[in-house]
Amino acid sequence: MLNKTISAIKPSATLAISAKAKQMKRQGKDVVIFAAGEPDFDTPDNIKDAAVRAIEEGKTKYTPASGLPELKQAVCDKFKRDNDVDYIQENVIISNGGKHVLSNIARALLDPGDEVIVPQPIWLTYPVQVQIAGGRPIYLQLPDGFKLTADAVAEKVTEKTKYLILNTPCNPTGAVIDPSEIRKIAELALEKDFMIVADEVYEHFLYDGKKHLSAASISEEVREKILTVNAVSKSYSMTGWRIGYVAGPADIIKAMSNLQSQETSNPCSIAQHAAVEALTGPQDSIRKMVDAFRERRKIAIDGLNSISGIRCYNSEGAFYAWFNIQDVSKAKGSMDFAEKLLDQAGVAVIPGAPFGGEGWIRLSYASAKEDIEKGLERIRDWTES
Ligand SMILES: Cc1ncc(COP(=O)(O)O)c(C=O)c1O
Repeated sequence: MLNKTISAIKPSATLAISAKAKQMKRQGKDVVIFAAGEPDFDTPDNIKDAAVRAIEEGKTKYTPASGLPELKQAVCDKFKRDNDVDYIQENVIISNGGKHVLSNIARALLDPGDEVIVPQPIWLTYPVQVQIAGGRPIYLQLPDGFKLTADAVAEKVTEKTKYLILNTPCNPTGAVIDPSEIRKIAELALEKDFMIVADEVYEHFLYDGKKHLSAASISEEVREKILTVNAVSKSYSMTGWRIGYVAGPADIIKAMSNLQSQETSNPCSIAQHAAVEALTGPQDSIRKMVDAFRERRKIAIDGLNSISGIRCYNSEGAFYAWFNIQDVSKAKGSMDFAEKLLDQAGVAVIPGAPFGGEGWIRLSYASAKEDIEKGLERIRDWTES
């Protein structure tokens, strides 16, 4: 009965673990949850107020399917301010979160058999979306430093390559790709004629003096090869509002807009008005959040590294600690580790296997400091007992 492609889709492992942990909590169990990929901060008040105003002023009707003109303009201004890239409204579409943007891209660009280079470990949604759209994910397994290089990409490029996923800072590793490599990868895209989907949703979450480089800012010629994906979800702690956006060549954006007009129409009008405020209003909430995460990151990475059998990667971005558990004798692989840790120690983390990172675990430190300390103690007691 079911469509073959759709029936092969597995539910997202991250959402499944979070759901189980939350259910245990509802049943009264004392669980520390490091599973979700979202900041624990509340959405800033000025953004909430803008949404309330939108409701009160009756801005509750359909908007253009591809998003409000004022939000598209706010996105263009944001790209100029934060990323030094010039875009006009025709280069922008607003969708229901970054995930929807990425799905639209896959659907708009891929024909059956087209290839997409997917470096791993990486967010598990990308390859699934490629498959749903009829494309073929071509995996590029990154060695332990988890940094993508142009040489590694070059080895995977074929005549069928449609695009490369470039996610920096990266989910789940927190790796930040060196700007010099981003430049080389962009040159390769020009030479071999493939697109780059630059997912920059974690652009502000950087530590150890790292700086973000938007590939589209390299040159006007390169900009034509880039789809710059972003969302208000992580930067403004607005994961539930579902507003994402992408900027790129106008013909591709037009195709995505046509698709969106037939599939979902506009994203929520109220959330769009809130997103205008997020992008154009005061930006200091981002700095406060990143300052808090910097402190928690240190506690998480130092704490994990002090547990015997665990080796934590020095993530320079995002809000994930990525640690190796191959020397932990109590578990056989990352799935087993995550399941046992939740059942036996009441700590929810995400196994690396679905991200293409077997032997590794993702721990989101976007949680209260006390919870991080409590969770680390439990991981230590469980691992070392
Ligand atoms: C790398 C990456 N890109 C995009 C997204 C999508 O974010 P959203 O759909 O919540 O805007 C996520 C969410 O976890 C992510 O980790």
